[in-house]
Amino acid sequence: MRSEYCGLVNRKHLGQSVTLCGWVHRRRDHGGVIFIDLRDREGLVQVVCDPDTPGTFRTADRLRHEFVIRVAGKVRGRPAGTVNPDLPSGEVEVLAQSIEILNASLTPAFQLDDDNLSETVRLEHRVLDLRRPFMQNNLKLRYRATMAVRNFLDRHGFIDVETPMLTRSTPEGARDYLVPSRVHPGHFYALPQSPQLFKQLLMMAGFDRYYQIVKCFRDEDLRSDRQPEFTQIDIETSFLDQGEITRIVEELICHAFKEVIGVELPNPFPRLTYAQTMARYGSDKPDLRVPLELTELTDAARDVEFKVFRDAARLADGRVAALRVPQGGALTRGEIDGYTEYVKTLGAKGLAYVKVNAMERGAEGLQSPILKFLSAAAIKAILDRTGACDGDLIFFGADRARIANETLGALREKIGRERGLGQPGWRPLWVLDFPMFVWDEEEKRWAAMHHPFTSPADGHEDLLDANPGAARAKAHDLVLNGWEIGGGSVRIHRQDVQQKVFRALGIGPDEAQAKFGFLLEALQYGAPPHGGIAFGLDRIVALMAGADSIRDVIAFPKTQRAQCLLTHAPNTVDEQQLRELHIRLRQPEALPGASRTIDPEVFAEIIGTG
Ligand code: AMO
Ligand code: AMP
Repeated sequence: MRSEYCGLVNRKHLGQSVTLCGWVHRRRDHGGVIFIDLRDREGLVQVVCDPDTPGTFRTADRLRHEFVIRVAGKVRGRPAGTVNPDLPSGEVEVLAQSIEILNASLTPAFQLDDDNLSETVRLEHRVLDLRRPFMQNNLKLRYRATMAVRNFLDRHGFIDVETPMLTRSTPEGARDYLVPSRVHPGHFYALPQSPQLFKQLLMMAGFDRYYQIVKCFRDEDLRSDRQPEFTQIDIETSFLDQGEITRIVEELICHAFKEVIGVELPNPFPRLTYAQTMARYGSDKPDLRVPLELTELTDAARDVEFKVFRDAARLADGRVAALRVPQGGALTRGEIDGYTEYVKTLGAKGLAYVKVNAMERGAEGLQSPILKFLSAAAIKAILDRTGACDGDLIFFGADRARIANETLGALREKIGRERGLGQPGWRPLWVLDFPMFVWDEEEKRWAAMHHPFTSPADGHEDLLDANPGAARAKAHDLVLNGWEIGGGSVRIHRQDVQQKVFRALGIGPDEAQAKFGFLLEALQYGAPPHGGIAFGLDRIVALMAGADSIRDVIAFPKTQRAQCLLTHAPNTVDEQQLRELHIRLRQPEALPGASRTIDPEVFAEIIGTG
């Protein structure tokens, strides 16, 4: 039907006849001449219709936004002064000889070049939204990223193996999406939260290097960087130690950034232990573009009169830390109150501060409501350790370490962004040496920090029983500009160690057998040392595209409430389908006709088991 893509017509076609197909992006009637910006996947080209060809001109007059047309015409140079340097086709235009309307369009719900659309409107009319050059570019970028990844992994001997979507639940820490079985009443498949166990089984089966670009499903609270179904670049290797695994996958990430957006990442990536990154940034996914760091004060605060600091410093899991804001003395009372409210929403009880007016005047030169409750030694420690200068402001967090870290860590990035302290560029970071377990306060038991198949550090096997909180893991997370883009580990390849970890997690032998019997068995038939990682493809592409949300790099994403506004999933189903699946709803009024959106209060109830 056509000879060229619209967006690719350029000087080399000068004087040639071309046939183009595409959408009417804009139509301008310049009294006597009609200009059409014709759009396809590759971009725009200007089509000119003049009254000398009356039939064509009459057709052009009927065109409206988003009509689909076919144009035959001749390429000519644009008159001087009308060249558009922003378009690859900007030096030329096509003088239309014939125009055929292939399809009309209703008036679109929005102008495609409107930059202020609500996300609801965009997702409801996703087909129109996807026509926008910005979304076309994002999805092309995504494709190029997956191709770069595939090419690299293929060259390095990785084999793409598919793993099941209908499976048993794997414990990655989120709630499962369940699929009821028709054939086995009362039984359910789980959609995989990741292919974790299957990729380990593939190593035990001798495949040596596996990868898969694969959908994963997690029913968890959604944010701008989380979707209920998302895509992992999932990788597993045999006979590589942690240094070798992190090295090869960092080459992969460097390759992809170079190929897709021409960016040279620092190589090798810097590495910090979990303890170091928490101490310095209060976060295990710090945005290193923000040059601020936290300062430890717990030891210096143990004996001060200020009760807030002293109490926190004396807690077994307490922390007192400072965040120095260079030239933060310029912050107004209102701005300080704003930051105080912000940390309170994250669980802090307050946000003490000291303004450093004139260092040479000692305590006199400082300004703070808490000054009178701090000893001279504590003040000296604060000023020395933070490296304070005249004009600075120092914020303090004092609480259980988890809260002090979360609040100061978030404040660090907020202040960095808002005060323009962030530096441009790309700042990757490996975080290593994670704890094996975190204490789950609600359940009163240890939970895996990564997942239960993560190997303890060498020599930490005995801690699994004796002191689980002190056991560290051979886990590695990759962070880029404040986003966790990947996480993985060396795995347990010995059955006795795996049993110990299950025990530490409160998973008894019977439960372990029932849930992971297939893994425990495979571990007994010559399981090789193995390990790997999974990257969040959506996050990597969002970073490459400069998008704020991964929804902008997914063709058909879900909302914050896990709905598809286009297809209206999840939706109700008819009773016959439910009956076949042996399911009865607690609230029959939620059946078809009652509502198009599912009521969160509706729970499936199973009739009959086994
Ligand atoms: P993990 O749970 O850390 O590890 O996931 C790996 C990476 O996947 C991305 N990610 C997500 N992206 C979008 N939406 C989500 N809901 C979401 N959840 C996770 C993140 C994360 O770093 N099986 C292990 C990997 C391994 O040990 O090899 C796993 O799934 O970028
Ligand atoms: P108060 O004694 O509660 O009036 O608090 C004095 C100052 O300490 C105020 O600026 C509070 O915002 C701050 N503050 C209170 N609790 C904390 C805390 N846990 N961490 C840091 N600052 C706090």
